[in-house]
This record gives sequence, C-alpha cells and structure tokens, in this order.
Amino acid sequence: MAKLWGGRFSGGLDPIAWEYNASLSFDWRLAEVDVRGSIAWAKALMKAGVITLDEQHQIVKGLTDILAEIRAGQFVHAPSDEDVHTAIERRLTELTGPVGGKLHTGRSRNDQVATDFALWLVEAVDRVDAFLKLVQSALVERAESDMDILLPGYTHFQQSQPILLSHWWLSHFWPLARDRQRLAQLRERAAVLPLGSGALAGTPFPIDRQFLANQLGFKAISPNSIDAVSNRDSAAEFLFAAALIAIHLSRLSEMLILYTSAEFGFIELSDAYSTGSSLMPQKKNPDTLELTRGKSGTMIGRLTGLLSVLKGLPSAYDKDLQEDKIPVFETSDTLCLMLPVVAGVIKTLKVRPDRMEAALNPATLATDLADYLVKKGVPFREAHGLVGKAVRRANDLETTLDRLPLAEFESISPAFDAGTLQVFDFHASVARRDVPGGTGPAAVQVQLQQARAFLHSHKVRSSVPPAETPHGGDGS
Ligand code: ARG
Repeated sequence: MAKLWGGRFSGGLDPIAWEYNASLSFDWRLAEVDVRGSIAWAKALMKAGVITLDEQHQIVKGLTDILAEIRAGQFVHAPSDEDVHTAIERRLTELTGPVGGKLHTGRSRNDQVATDFALWLVEAVDRVDAFLKLVQSALVERAESDMDILLPGYTHFQQSQPILLSHWWLSHFWPLARDRQRLAQLRERAAVLPLGSGALAGTPFPIDRQFLANQLGFKAISPNSIDAVSNRDSAAEFLFAAALIAIHLSRLSEMLILYTSAEFGFIELSDAYSTGSSLMPQKKNPDTLELTRGKSGTMIGRLTGLLSVLKGLPSAYDKDLQEDKIPVFETSDTLCLMLPVVAGVIKTLKVRPDRMEAALNPATLATDLADYLVKKGVPFREAHGLVGKAVRRANDLETTLDRLPLAEFESISPAFDAGTLQVFDFHASVARRDVPGGTGPAAVQVQLQQARAFLHSHKVRSSVPPAETPHGGDGS
C-alpha cells in the first residue's frame, strides 16, 4: 500500500505495528475541520504564489466534494489511510490528480493536526456550553416554581439550619455559571492558529498567517512554531473544565440520590429517568444520577491521563501526542449525554414539600435562639453555651427543643423568657436571613434575578447543540 511518507522506506511496516501507529479509527472525527483547514491552506498557498489560482480552484473543488462525501457517510477508506489527514489527501489526489499533491506544500501533519484539534475543540466548547445552559435553565425554573418550600440545610450532612428549596436549587446554578465562564476563557486560548508552523521550524513559504487565522475564525496566530506544534494546553483545559462540570453535577446527583431514598422521600424521580431492578419488583433506581457520579470519576481519569502523557515530552511534536484525542472525544461525548440527562431529571422530578418540612428538626433553630438571647444583651459565646444546655436538657427529657417547658429554659438562665418559644418558627428563621446571598425570600428573589440576568447575557453560540458528523466509513 502506498503510504504518504513511503519514499525513504524499502520495507513495509509490520501489520500489527501499522495498526498500532494508525489513528484513523478515532481521528476521523476531525474530518470536517481537516477539510476546512486544507481549504484555507490552499488559498494561502495561492496568495503566497506557490500554486496558481486555477490549481487553488481545483483543490478547493476536490475538498468540497470530499466534504460532501464525509457528510453523506460515503467517504470510502483505503487500507493505506493512516489517519484522517492522509485519508483526505489520498482522496484529493484521486479526485484531482497530481495537483492534489501540491496541497501539503510547506505544511506538516504536526501543524495540521494541532490546527484541526483547535478547530474541533472550539466547536466542542460551544456544544457543551449550550447543554450547560439547559441545566442552568432547568435549575432556574425549579427555583421559580419551588419558591415557598422549606427543607433542612445540611453541613457535615447533619441538619444545620432551615433553607429555602429555591436557594438550594440555585446553589447548583452558580458552579455551572463559573463553568461556562471557564469554557469561554479556554475557548479564547484555543482559538490561536498553529498552521504555518510546519513540522516545528515554520513554513519556508511566504504564507500570510493572519489571513489563515481570519479564514478559520481564529483570533490570533501562535507566536512560536516549536510551541505551537506541541501545545495541547487547550485539550488539557477542556478536560479539566469538563471534569469540574462533572464534579458539580456529581455533587448535585449525590444529594438527589439521597433525597429519593425512602428515609428522606424529599423527591421522586420521573419514570423517564429511573430504572427498575431485574430482581426486586419494588425498586426504582436513580441510575442516571449514579452514572453521573460515576462518570465524573472517569472524567477525572482522562484529565490525569492526558497530563501524564504531556509531562515528560521532549520539545515539539512527538507521537505520544496522538494520545490526546481519545480522552477529549470521549469526554465531550459523555458531557453531551450527561448534561441533557441531568437537565431532564431536574425538570421532571417531583418535589415532596410535606416530607421536606416534616424533616425539619426544631434544633435547627438553636442558632436563632442564641441570636434571640444576643438581642437581649447576652454575649454570643455565652448564649451559645446556654442554648447548648437547653439542647442537652431536651435530649435528656426525650423531647424536642421547642417542646422544652419554659420553666426548664428559665432554670438554665433568666435570659430566657416568654418570647423564647416564639423563636421556633422555621419561616421566620429563613426570612431573617435576607442578607444578599442569604436564604431569605427577598434575597432569593434578587438572586433569581441575577441568575436570569446571567442566562440572558451568556448567550450560547448555537441554540440547539448541533449534532456532530456521523462517524462514517472508518470501519471502527
Ligand atoms: N495522527 C497524528 C496525530 O494525531 C498526526 C500527526 C502525525 N505527525 C507525524 N509527524 N507523524 O498526532
């Protein structure tokens, strides 16, 4: 088989070594961006006087036909296709004859693959961003509709203080807002053009790199060719951003899983997002949420995997870098399922306000009781101790703090009085926390406005996440 780099070789590659070396089975996903990059390169070659306008037209026509084949899933691979780049160049030569052989002038697969990957990453970022917005919108909708519902807030997973359910939903909105900001920032850094860097030293032809950048939608051109061909920072950043998104969703999932258990019964998942047991007829399992928790672990693994590949690499391109794609593709695919699934779970679950309020223990108002004493002039540290004694006394008498007789309170301290028992009002406790960012209803309304404003100002670049090119014709 005719390899594109076969000139200096007399013997063929061992078939298993060929298989080992080839990346077509996974890098075919770069086919569309590879064609885009090549069309821009052909134009730049013409501008540089390397090929004629007629040759440019022939090459662009060939590449456009190839794009149609790719999109229709009709691109036929040859056994000699080592990777997406060689496959497309081979097909171009079949379609255009020797002129196709001029396309790779002054270019290396090293700057080509870095360019393709950057183009692909920018699109992946936009897809993930659009899906993230779906989850954010689902959280805002819940915060709006669940406005007056109270539940216990937990620290150390012990009941701590009452909170508004809306406040809790929004506590999962803001991490995703930071994730979207992070994606926007890494998108900027990814959109830097490596093409023109050649193998490592730069192309020797008078290529207008700014023209190339404009053609491909890049904001800047790479300042150093050696760095440009081996820079995989954006891939690593993408994997980090993705892992953190997954961790945020995993933490939400963990709570929702607990809340679906019979012991809590705070929420019920829709049938559309739960599964049954093959043995136990009564079971309704939160598999979608468990998978979210589990897949977040796999995503952390992909990030550490790529970082490990990068860590000891010598200067410029090394074949190790071919290992960059699988984790990035897999992570992107995972997110494009995980995010809409989590959005669906949030939108369709049923909240049980009765169960939430019934779970509220009056002891969650112990801080409010201490604050009541503070208002009467007792130093907080002392008030804390007095209320602590009351909690212990209630425990000893096997009652709850709100049922402890006033006489008992008064025997602990004369600072307790008839107003003491009025503190035991969960709604009043929440309402007092109207500080900006707090769980008070007025503060949560302001927060809701801020969340809506974020959604409004952080527009997605494509409203419906576009489907990717089907994996066609690579036999994988
Ligand atoms: N398939 C290779 C990759 O994904 C393309 C670059 C190959 N460059 C080379 N000099 N062999 O990294």
